[in-house]
Amino acid sequence: MDIEAEAKKLLLENRRTTGEYQYIIPSADHYPYQWLWDSCFHSIILAKFEPTAAKAELRALLSKQFENGLIPHIIYWSPGVLHLFRWGVEGTSSLTQPPMLAYAAWETHKRDLDTPFLQSIFPSLVSYYRFLLTERDPHGHHLASIINPDESGEDNSPRFDTPLGVTPGVSLKDHLGKRTELVDKNRECNFDAGKCMRDFFWVKDVLFNTVLVENLRALSKIAGYLEHAEYEHAFMRDADAVAGAMRERMLEDGIYWSTMGAEFTKLKTATWAHFVPLFAGLYTPPEAEVVVREHLLNPETFYASFGIRTTSKAEPAYRPHADDFSWRGPSWMAAHWFIYHGLKRYGFSKEADDIRAKSVGLLEKSGFRECFDPETGEGLGAHGFTWGALVLDMMEE
Ligand code: GLC
Repeated sequence: MDIEAEAKKLLLENRRTTGEYQYIIPSADHYPYQWLWDSCFHSIILAKFEPTAAKAELRALLSKQFENGLIPHIIYWSPGVLHLFRWGVEGTSSLTQPPMLAYAAWETHKRDLDTPFLQSIFPSLVSYYRFLLTERDPHGHHLASIINPDESGEDNSPRFDTPLGVTPGVSLKDHLGKRTELVDKNRECNFDAGKCMRDFFWVKDVLFNTVLVENLRALSKIAGYLEHAEYEHAFMRDADAVAGAMRERMLEDGIYWSTMGAEFTKLKTATWAHFVPLFAGLYTPPEAEVVVREHLLNPETFYASFGIRTTSKAEPAYRPHADDFSWRGPSWMAAHWFIYHGLKRYGFSKEADDIRAKSVGLLEKSGFRECFDPETGEGLGAHGFTWGALVLDMMEE
C-alpha cells in the first residue's frame, strides 16, 4: 500500500467547499461536517504538500468563532441538516475541542512563510486562548476546564465516567444520551461557566491542558514572529503557569491524572492520557523513563500487538472491540501521533519508530478506519477516516 498516495487521495476526496470556505470532513459515512481538532490535524499534514489548503482549513475553522472567543468543535456548514450532534447554537456546536489551533497555525507557517495570513488569524487565536484561560478558569487556578467529555476529543473515554455519572459497563448509546443531557443543562445555564455550568461537569483534563500548554508556546512563537513582544511574553508565562498548575494538582505517583470539581479530585482511571504530557515535555526525564517503561510498554495495561490501548486492559471499562467508535480500549491514530512526538521529544527513538510501524501496520491491515481493535488490528467505526494521514507526520524530517 502506498500510504502517502492513499492519504493524499483521501484528503482530497473528503474536501468540501461551502461558499468561500474550504474544509475537510473526517469521514463521509460518519462525520460529514467540520471538526476542530480534526481540521488542525488536516492542516498539519496539508502544510507539507499543499499549504494553501492548510490555510483554507484554518480559515474555515475560525470563521464561526463565538463573540466570547470559543471556537466550536463542529461546524455543520450545510443548512438544515438534522443530526444527533446538532448541539446548542444554530450552525455549530456549543462546545470546543482540544485547542490544537496555534500549533497547527505555526506548523503551517513554518512550511509556508505567509506573514499576512498569520497576521490575519492572530486576533482570533488570541481571543480563543484568552477565552480558555479566563472563562474556563473563572477562579484563576491556571487550568482550563472542560464542560463535556466531547471537549476532550475522547467522547466516551472512561476517564469521565465518574463526573458523568455512568458505570464502567455503560452502553455507548446510554453514554451518548448522558452527554447530550449535559449540553441541555448547560444550555439552560446559558453556558455561564462561573455560575451554574460547573455544577454539572467540571473537569480539568490532562490531555486538554497539555495541548493548551504546547499551544500557548506556539502562540507565543507566533506573537514573537509578528513582533508583539507583550503577547509573546504573556503567553509564555501562561504556558508556564498551566504547566506548573498541572504538576501541582494532577501529578500523583509519577503519573498525571485528570481531576474533577473544586476539590481537584483525581479521576483514577488509567487511560492513554498518562502519555500525553510527554508531548509537551511535562515529565522530568527520570519520570518519563518510568512512564514509558512501566506503563506504555506494559502488555498487561497499554501495549498491545497492534497498537496502544486508549484504556488500560486492567480497567473494568476496557473493551477492545465495540460496535461503533470508542475510546474505551481501541487504538486511535491521533493517540499514536501524540505519543510518537512525545517519545521523540525525550529521545526514545526506538520506541517512537515502533509506534510509527504499528500505525503503518494498522493502515495496511485495515485501511483508513476511525479506530482499531488493538489486539487484532481490525478496523472499527467510520470508514475513509482522515486521521490515518497523520502517519505522514510521523516520518523523520
Ligand atoms: C469522534 C472522535 C472525535 C473526533 C470526531 C470527528 O467523535 O471522538 O475526537 O473529533 O469523531 O472525527
